[in-house]
Amino acid sequence: MNSEQSIDNITIAEQSEVEDYRAALAADVLRGLSLPRRELQPKYFYDETGSQLFEKICDLPEYYQTRTESAILRDIAPELVEHYRPATLVEFGSGSSLKTRLLLSAMEDAGVLKRYVPIDISREMLLSTAESLVREYPGLAVDAVIGDFNAGLPPLTAPGPRLIIFLGSTIGNFTEEEATAFLRRVSSGMGEDDLFLLGIDLVKDPAMLHAAYNDADGVTAEFNLNVLRVINRELGGAFDTGSFRHYAFFNPRASQIEMHLASLTEQVVPIESIGMDVRFGRGETILTEISRKFTRESASALMAAAGLNVLDIFSDSGELFALALARRENG
Ligand code: SAH
Ligand code: TRP
Repeated sequence: MNSEQSIDNITIAEQSEVEDYRAALAADVLRGLSLPRRELQPKYFYDETGSQLFEKICDLPEYYQTRTESAILRDIAPELVEHYRPATLVEFGSGSSLKTRLLLSAMEDAGVLKRYVPIDISREMLLSTAESLVREYPGLAVDAVIGDFNAGLPPLTAPGPRLIIFLGSTIGNFTEEEATAFLRRVSSGMGEDDLFLLGIDLVKDPAMLHAAYNDADGVTAEFNLNVLRVINRELGGAFDTGSFRHYAFFNPRASQIEMHLASLTEQVVPIESIGMDVRFGRGETILTEISRKFTRESASALMAAAGLNVLDIFSDSGELFALALARRENG
């Protein structure tokens, strides 16, 4: 951690400063856009505008994930909390912590709530959420960590048992290798009384999956195109967002949504601060995100490969979405 500060019941640990963010973006853009199959990393979607667009995605009628995961959480939270009595809630990619409130409230009701540790790369979203939460939950301590969750669990000095959550099927945005490496880091940071709750999107009718990433209002398209605006602003890029199109589809063989930005014309896009001229043929794409879809079996196998012992998998009656509860192996 490079800096730390404390106000009221909030402490803020910042992994890296703005300059490091820009340097990491520059290195990732240079690497990703030099590949024969161009790609960008999804973490760069989430500037202030991107985080707001994501909030809008969560409310879309086509995007069944958020409301379904909320319903499952509402259903399981009281019993889960009564049974394991966690004192600390740790969350990766917390965003606006909307669904998290279902767990925080259950912990408050059970009289066990002490501390919340949200970890997110989106600074503004994290800070405004932390401020709201200390007002909503009197006595709650919020230890916000601004940074990349791939750094693993922050050292956990907070009182246990800890409930560690990773919602929204963000795990699906990692490749199999990235997901295993991430989950290994999580499990190796867990104590034997700690619990891990993982949100996973389930394989289903491809038409329903397709609609969820191609909403009628074009919010998802705007969200996707926003990454080009981030590059323009941070690296002096000259992307004309009007000459790229959002293109997302379900690949059933790989069991994943693949989201691209397709160039509508042959064009050369200069990115000043990295001295790069990116050449696009007509129809050529940049892969901006994958979103993997799991079965109960594939999710259990993934977690087992990372040293996590699945205790239970909770789902809605339509088997659209699931939450897997696990402990560290031999825990
Ligand atoms: N948990 C919320 C938000 C999911 S969106 C929900 O379920 O609705 C993904 C969140 O992860 C965003 O808040 C984004 O800012 C954050 N994020 C994405 N990549 C990240 C990274 N590499 N490190 C830390 N946070 C990241
Ligand atoms: N984890 C979410 C998912 O894979 C993130 C997400 C939802 C998303 N909709 C999106 C990312 C649209 C990019 C574009 O479903």
